[in-house]
Formats: sequence, C-alpha cells, structure tokens
Amino acid sequence: MIKFINNRRKLCLYTRQILSSCDILPVLKNEEVSSMTYDLCWLASKVGVPDFEVRGMTPIIEMINEELNQKTEFASVKKVIFSSLEHLTHVEKSIFESFEINDEGYVIKDTDEALYVIGAKDKGVLYGMFHLLRLLAQTIKLVGIEMVENPYNGIRMLNHWDNMDEKDFMGSVERGYAGNSIFFENCAIVKDKSRIKAYARLLASIGINSVSINNVNVHALESKLITKELLPEVAEIAGIFRDYGVKLFLSINYASPITLAGMETSDPLEEDVRTWWKKQLAEVYDFIPDFGGVVVKADSEGRPGPFTYGRTHADGANMLAEALAPYGGIVFWRCFVYNHQQDWRDRKTDRARAAYDHFMPLDGMFLDNVVLQIKNGPIDFQVREPLSPLLGGMTETNQILEFQVTQEYLGHSKDVCFLIPQWKEYLNFDTYAQGKGSTIDKIANGSLYSRQNGGIVAVANIGNDANWTGHKLAQANLYGYGRLIWNPSLTAEEIATEWVKLMFGDDAKVLELVKSILLDSWPAYEKYTAPLSVGFMVQPHLHYGVNIDGYEYSKWGTYHFADCHGVGVDRTTATGTGYSYQYFEPNAMRYENITTCPDELLLFFHYACYTHVLQSGKTVIQHIYDTHFEGVCDVKDFIKRWDALEGLIDLESFTNVQERLKQQLANAKEWRDQINTYFYRKSGIPDAHGRTIY
Ligand code: GCU
Repeated sequence: MIKFINNRRKLCLYTRQILSSCDILPVLKNEEVSSMTYDLCWLASKVGVPDFEVRGMTPIIEMINEELNQKTEFASVKKVIFSSLEHLTHVEKSIFESFEINDEGYVIKDTDEALYVIGAKDKGVLYGMFHLLRLLAQTIKLVGIEMVENPYNGIRMLNHWDNMDEKDFMGSVERGYAGNSIFFENCAIVKDKSRIKAYARLLASIGINSVSINNVNVHALESKLITKELLPEVAEIAGIFRDYGVKLFLSINYASPITLAGMETSDPLEEDVRTWWKKQLAEVYDFIPDFGGVVVKADSEGRPGPFTYGRTHADGANMLAEALAPYGGIVFWRCFVYNHQQDWRDRKTDRARAAYDHFMPLDGMFLDNVVLQIKNGPIDFQVREPLSPLLGGMTETNQILEFQVTQEYLGHSKDVCFLIPQWKEYLNFDTYAQGKGSTIDKIANGSLYSRQNGGIVAVANIGNDANWTGHKLAQANLYGYGRLIWNPSLTAEEIATEWVKLMFGDDAKVLELVKSILLDSWPAYEKYTAPLSVGFMVQPHLHYGVNIDGYEYSKWGTYHFADCHGVGVDRTTATGTGYSYQYFEPNAMRYENITTCPDELLLFFHYACYTHVLQSGKTVIQHIYDTHFEGVCDVKDFIKRWDALEGLIDLESFTNVQERLKQQLANAKEWRDQINTYFYRKSGIPDAHGRTIY
C-alpha cells in the first residue's frame, strides 16, 4: 500500500491544533490563485481536509493528492481515507464490499476510526473526493454521513464545436459566446495547455467522463487531427483529460479518404475506403491507447456522408465502428440530418420529421459500438420543443441524448437562461414507448431497452474568457449539466443552491436572490421570445435577437406561417405533415387534437387562429401580448434583484451580470415590441388591456 504523505499536510495539522475548533480554519495563503488569469468557478473554495491518506498510485490518484494539497483552509473533520476497493484492509473490505458501487461509483462513510471516501476504482475515488470537497465548501456537516453514489448515465459527455482552421474559423467556437477555443489558436493546437488542465479538473468535479474537442463541422485542418502530423499534440491533450478520468473523442470528416488520402471516393462499402479507415484509426490508437472514438455529422447541412454513394447511415457508421471495435472505440453518429435546401412553398416537407424518417427504418442495423446521438427536440434547441420521437422509437439501437449547454437560441450568454429546469422537464417526459413510465431519462441511459452505451452529451458553453462562460450565471449551466446527468433526481433548485453556495458563499440573501433569478430565467426567456413553441423568429445565422420573418422564406425549413387569421405549423396527421404520429399513444392523440395539445406546444403542432382559446382560458393573441409584456417585467425584476446584491458578492461577478442584464432588457423589449406589433398588425386584434403596441 502506498501512501502519499506531504509536508503541507503536517504543517496544517499542527496549525489546526493551535487554533480553536471552529468549522473552517484559515491557514495558508493560496499562492496559486493569485497568479490565475481565469476563474476557478465552483472550485474556488480553499477548504480541504487537514489529515488525509490517499491510497494507491495512478495518475488519477496523483490528481487527488494534488487537489487535496492545494487546499489551505481546513474543516474540522477527522482523518479522511481515500481509497479504491483494492487498497482496503481486510477489516475495511468487510465494511465496504457490501455497498453496491459500479466502476465509477463511490461511498462516503463516517466511521469511528476515520471518514472514508471509497471508490470501486480510482475514478470513483476522484469523484468521491470532489463530492466531499463540495460538501465541505458548503459547510455541510459530515458526522454520521453515509452516502452511496453511482452515476445514472454511463456516458456523460461534452462536445466542443471548436475550430482550428484558417481565416473565418481560426480558434473560434461555433455557437460559442465566451471567447475563443481553449484548444486551438493560430491554426494550431495551443502550446500552453494549462487552461486545458484547469478545464479537465472542472469536468471531473462534476462527473463528466467524455469530451470531444473539435467542431462537428470538420474543416480541412481539423480533419488532420487523426493524422501523425497532429496526433502527438492531440495525445498530450488526451493525457491531460485522462488524468482526470475523461476520455477524448474527435469529430471526423466523413470525406477524409478523399481529402486526406487523395482517394476518389469515401464510399463506405468500398474495400479500399474501409481499409484506409482501419489503418488511420489504428494510428490514432498508437498515440492514444484509450482513445474514446469519433463523433460524426454526415449528410447534414452540407456535410459529406454516405448518401453521396447511395449508401445508408448504417453503412457509414458501421464502417467506422468496425475500425474502432478492436480497441473498444465508439462511433457517435448524429441524427441531426435534414433537408436544408427546402422550398418554403412546399408545406409537406417537414424538418421536424426528418430524424425519425431517416433513422427508424435502420433500427437494428447498427453495430454495438455505434451510438446514435439525438438532439432533445426534432428541430434545433429552441426555447421549447417537444421531445424527439426518435428517442425511444428505436428499440434495437444505442441512443444518446444531445442537449445544448451553449445558449445558441437561448440568449448567447447575454441573456440569463438557467437550463436545468428545461432539461429536467425533458428527462421526465413519458414517451410511453414501453407503456407508462418510459421516460426519456431511461431511454438515454439505455435502461429501458437494456442497451449498453447510453448517456447524455451536450454542446459545451465554454471559451477562453476569464470566467469561461461569458455570463457568470451561465457557469451554472455547465455545473448543473454535470450534476444533473450524474443524478437526474436532483431538483433544479437543489442544483442552483449548490452552485450559488459554491460560488458566492452562504449568505441567505445572496442565495435567495441569485437562485430566484436562475429559476425564473427560462420561463422569462420563453415569455418574451417566439410564442407557444412556434420557434425560430431569430436573426438568421446569428440566432440572437428577434427577426420574426428572418427564416420565413428561407431554405432552412423553420417556418411559422403567420397570416391574418392565425399562426403555427400544422403537423397533425389529419391535415398536416403527419409528424404527430411519430409519437406513441397517448402522446400522438394528445398532440394531434388541438383541444388536448398542451398550450406550450400548441403552435409546434397546430396552425391556430388568433381567437383560439387555450386551455389556460386565454386566446392565442392575448397570450402572445400578455407573455411578452410579462417577460420584459421579469427582466426588470431580475435587474432589481441583482442590484440588491451590490456589495454582497465580488465586484467582478456583480458587474458582469449587471451589464448583461442591461443588454438582456434591451433585447427583451425589442422582442416584445416587434412580436406584439407584428401580431397586432397581422390580426388587427387589440390588446385587451390597451398597452402600448406600435
Ligand atoms: C445548428 C447550428 C449549427 C450546428 C448544427 C449541428 O444548425 O446552428 O451551428 O452546426 O446545429 O448541430 O450540427
């Protein structure tokens, strides 16, 4: 058994003895923090444990030591033993082997002798340690504690849409609102990788175990990430993540045999193409023996794919899966596939139907190491969408659910929008795929159909801004994402509470106000933007700010069809595009019928007259007016609440949020006035309360 003993620990032990026994003992100055040029986020607390023993010797165990040794203030807790099962004594084993923990799980247990943080493996110890530090930072008492934690989702992943390529893209992040990439700069991989390490640490602290670092839209230079030219540096990044228990994945360019190898085809059934991929991916494993695998966007929004050769997505995905299988690698094949060259005059083609129409016929045809990656909604991360019917539709195929942490349509980290309540609603949605209780969370983690390789992935929201996420409060989305997918039974309020306490301490007023802004923010955003889930109405391409007809006559297939009588997309089976019947009963009927369709999804499924009475008792037009006036009031109220925090939280955070709330208010007013005016002019129906409409 190898123990890491360190001098700082001894010094701290001594210091502790001469101080009185309060909960937190400030001891050493944290010299590292002063030199940092970026936020430590929810890991800023300096509180650790004074007396600890870390058993084992692996790179992950080293990181545990590093973390514990960084701490300079100490909670008055007894000795803490950090160990995986294999390093327990006989007596300890008899206590801990009865707990059911999986490879990433852990137990935190108080005994007479010591406080134990026990993982099945070193990774579990790492997660357990961060959990313990989180409890300490929130000054939660540990006496008598016994908690067993296993992650609900096997794959807990983040996709980065970071670009490496020249000119327009160089170092930028597609749909990123917090600066440039932390991975790429000047058409190369960053030389100073300390920020990547800081990021890996943040990810481990919230249980993320997989990451892909480059955009799903893979340009020429990023295509080379799987080649000898760039692999040595990619391997360095993989190593940094590995030490924190995070596996590295890369997005690949489906046309690589042509673009990299000069071949004439990328036909997945062509033997030379298959051989090329085998050779190329074998090379990746030479550099990164635990490489996670690849993420693929094919035949979508102009990306190359198997359709060019008359082949199916299964042909394409399986070719890559075969090449990765010998090494245990996975193919994440994205189902965000649709016709982006639509004619707005054509009312039958429906982008919402596309994923289901493309992939359902292929159910059961994918190899076991293919995982279909499905966005939460059928369109594209709108403020509200129904769940994709493909989730749970396929019974014989691995599926992973894709969220977006970055706020592409949800305010670009300018507007506050805490996304955990949205994700919770989605995870709890009952598909009825196998009868009542077939909720999305069980489909995502694979348990509903007993499939391996399930989980959740999300598009990341970080960049090289000093605070990582642009808007300080957007950090809560990254934090909450990790916490939620580890344990979906946590409430949005619990997650918000944790984050606020870790960030700003436990002043009751701060907790109440920041939490209330977070929890009210998604409903507020929904109120002042596109109504009743009709979607889009944003500035084309930018996707921030209002432009009601911005996409109305475009090729992208995102229409609202507003005229003088009503608005909305008829997706019923009786008279519309037939999308509603992609759902299981009773959802299909509920959506099909305008009187039972939930209000908040009405315009996604139906074209409704402005005078149609919602289940809420209001007409569609009055609902539009009311919510838009309310949404602006909500933002004004956020500003009041935030201003009341002056002096109670650090100036940098205070100013950051204050400035952004001002921009949000201007944005919300613009949405309110344009939407209300637009619908007033279309319908000719005045606001029942006579408020100002232009
Ligand atoms: C949206 C988004 C794109 C992105 C795409 C995807 O269309 O605007 O930037 O590439 O989704 O998920 O692939």
